[in-house]
Order: sequence, then structure tokens, then C-alpha cells
Amino acid sequence: MIKKCLFPAAGYGTRFLPATKAMPKEMLPIVNKPLIQYGVEEAMSAGIFTMAIVTGRGKRSIEDHFDISYELEHQIKGTKKEDYLADVRDIIDKCTFSYTRQVEMNGLGHAILTGETLIGNEPFAVLLADDLCEGSGGVGVLEQMVKIYEKYRCSIVAIEEVERDEVDKYGVIEGKEIEDGIYMISSMVEKPSIEEAPTNLAVIGRYILTPDIFSILQNTKPGKNGEIQITDALLEQCKKGMVLGYKFKGKRYDCGSIDGFIEATNVFYKKQNQSSSSEPKK
Ligand code: G1P
Repeated sequence: MIKKCLFPAAGYGTRFLPATKAMPKEMLPIVNKPLIQYGVEEAMSAGIFTMAIVTGRGKRSIEDHFDISYELEHQIKGTKKEDYLADVRDIIDKCTFSYTRQVEMNGLGHAILTGETLIGNEPFAVLLADDLCEGSGGVGVLEQMVKIYEKYRCSIVAIEEVERDEVDKYGVIEGKEIEDGIYMISSMVEKPSIEEAPTNLAVIGRYILTPDIFSILQNTKPGKNGEIQITDALLEQCKKGMVLGYKFKGKRYDCGSIDGFIEATNVFYKKQNQSSSSEPKK
């Protein structure tokens, strides 16, 4: 039912400079896998196999990553090192990737609108790769959201409670809990001050959007920081119909920040060592 996942991946990643000067932030690895690959794998486990990526200048390595590298594969053929590429090969076999470029950075709403050409007129998922999410009980966060979409058929944003002094980094929602962990949103505000924030329920980088969001975005005026904000478009959608906030089950690592990135690296490194086939022998 949700067949496509949009990855806004045009941002500069300034918090990781100088690492991101010539390398996309989405390609930063947690252990040995780039952030965007974790995102693609999460989409696949939600039954989504069409990836739509909004890129920008200097992001070519994302396209190369999800493609065959004949020279490299030839070089390591028949060695244990081939195992390293098994996951990404599986992705290439099962998924299709399309790309479009965002020529100017004008906010997440603008990035999503740029992706309209790849999505068309159907509901779709949005995944921000720098929010690395682990699901719960083997069920990924997008998979949880797809199930909720099947019931409610409206836009859904993933939310989590954050510290009060962190609300100014996020879109923040207010709403009524209609089912355990599911909120009918009545208000949303992009990066409010502590005083302005209606709650501490913050939107994280997972969305399911119905396609009417595109016409709303076309008419959304620049908001916070003079940029087109998805939060403002979603508030408009709330007024016209219904938008849900879903307190996802699992854990999110904010890999757009150094602290979150290091935390995720440590956790995933430990996990990999436990299930350890991590270092193939030569
Ligand atoms: C964007 C959105 C914000 C959301 C956040 C989740 O902000 O504008 O509403 O809470 O993603 O990661 P950004 O992190 O791009 O500043």
C-alpha cells in the first residue's frame, strides 16, 4: 500500500564539518554501513522497495553506493571479503532507486516538494537518514507506521518525548491520545522556544504523507528560518482533515549530532560483535 520512500538527502551536514565538506552526511558510517543504507533497510522491512532520493550537489556517492562497482567486485571475487557486500547487493537486487536534485536548500518542506516528481499521486513514506531508528521486537519504525496507515489512511508523523530544553530542535505537536501511543494532532509548531512549545512531543525523521501534501506545500509560505517547513504544511493538513502523531516503539539515535552519532556507533559496534561475523578473514 505504501510503495515508495522519499529520502531528503540534499542538506549540507554542517555539524559534521570538515568530514562532510566533500562527502554527503548520509554516507557517514555507523560501524561499516552508511546511514542511508540503514534507512533503506528500514524501508525494505516495511515492504517498501522503491526509493526516491532528493540529492544535491556533491552527493553522487549515494548513487554509486546503490549501484554495482564492477572493478571492486571483480577484485574481491572468490575471497571472504565478498561477504561485506552481501547486504548492499541484496538491496540493489530488490529495490529501484530514482534521484532528483534540489538545487537550492530551502527547508524540509521544499525538499519533500522537490520529490513530487518521483512520488506522483500516492501516499508515501519519508525517512531522514540522520535519525537512525531501531524498532522493537524486530518491527522497524516505518513498518509500525505503515500498519497504522492501513487503519487510519492519513498522514502520520513519528514522535517521541524529548527534554524540555531540546524542543527548539524539532517540530512539536499537541494532540489528543485516541489510542495507546496514537495522537490526533490539533497543533504543530516548528522549533518552538521552551515557552512557546505546547508539549515535549517532538517529531522525528519518519513520516507517512498523503499526496495532497504536495499542493499544500506549493502554497506554504516560508516559516521558521525563512524556509518552507513540512510542519506548517502538516498543520494545514490537520485543519483540512486528520494527521496523527505516533509514539513509535524502539529507539532513535540523532546521528545528525556528534553525541548521537557516537552513541549509535558504540551500540551498533557492540551488537555487531555479539552476532560476530564482523571481520571476515583474508
Ligand atoms: C526537521 C524538521 C523537524 C523535525 C526534524 C526531525 O528538522 O523540520 O520538524 O522535528 O527534522 O529530525 P531538521 O532536523 O532538519 O532541522
